[in-house]
Amino acid sequence: MNPDPMNQAIDQISRHRSVRKFTDRPIADDLLHTIVRTAQCASTSSHVQAYTIIRVQDKNNRKKIADLSGPQPWVEQAPIFLVFCADLTRLEAACGKHQVSPETGWAEQFVVATVDTALVAQNLMVAAESLGIGGVFIGGIRNDPETVCGLLNIPEMAYPVFGMCLGYPDHTPDIKPRLPLELVLKEDSFFGNDMEKQRSNDPEKAPENHLLSYDQTCRDYYLNRDSNLKDQTWTRQMADFMGKVTRPHMKSFLEKQGFFLR
Ligand SMILES: Cc1cc2nc3c(=O)[nH]c(=O)nc-3n(C[C@H](O)[C@H](O)[C@H](O)COP(=O)(O)O)c2cc1C
Repeated sequence: MNPDPMNQAIDQISRHRSVRKFTDRPIADDLLHTIVRTAQCASTSSHVQAYTIIRVQDKNNRKKIADLSGPQPWVEQAPIFLVFCADLTRLEAACGKHQVSPETGWAEQFVVATVDTALVAQNLMVAAESLGIGGVFIGGIRNDPETVCGLLNIPEMAYPVFGMCLGYPDHTPDIKPRLPLELVLKEDSFFGNDMEKQRSNDPEKAPENHLLSYDQTCRDYYLNRDSNLKDQTWTRQMADFMGKVTRPHMKSFLEKQGFFLR
């Protein structure tokens, strides 16, 4: 087997871990601007660039968003906190400029804007990490997205998808193991080229019990990591995640913002 090729980008991306404790060292505006400009190089569906990133500096708003997100104290403490909005308002403005009545509310537009937002955010995280900065995404802002819209003046045709804390790391968490390649990369068919063996993700039937061994890997990780130790497997965690309703307000919230109407 050939050894894995290694370069700086692969090495850096492979060392990603979410950072939730930050030093006081500030991030200069110029550096943030470089990071955001670099993030904007992400691919974007039909060049729509359907996102707006809001840097939240106001201390009261930070505190309110930290509280409604969990509470998650790192939202208040991070040197930089960004809110990533999926944003179709510029496209509406472009229509106005050309006397086109926009076809709004389609599920496809929701997907386009949300995917664009996720791509720019991940690029931003990678660019920041390349400069020794760490961060964490904050989906917790969707606990109360209406309040976030009110605090940050987010209009219809835009919605806050997630936040992101950024700063120089004050800890180095262990790297969280990912699923084995065999479970995420398939040949020619969703089930891979051995339909019978791969038909199910049931741990008993999955080839070579990849899921079981991943459960064990995650259990070892959770039992031995640097903080918040617990006896937890991945399938247990996912069963807990899927076994309860999370943020049931999202559908009506998105509709109110003008997304996902048809
Ligand atoms: C869209 C999204 C939302 C997330 N929301 C939160 C959050 O609200 N709070 C948090 O502490 N981590 C959050 N995370 C971080 C994940 O928990 C973390 O990425 C995952 O457990 C893998 O760990 P790692 O990033 O250290 O590899 C979020 C990640 C993503 C991609």
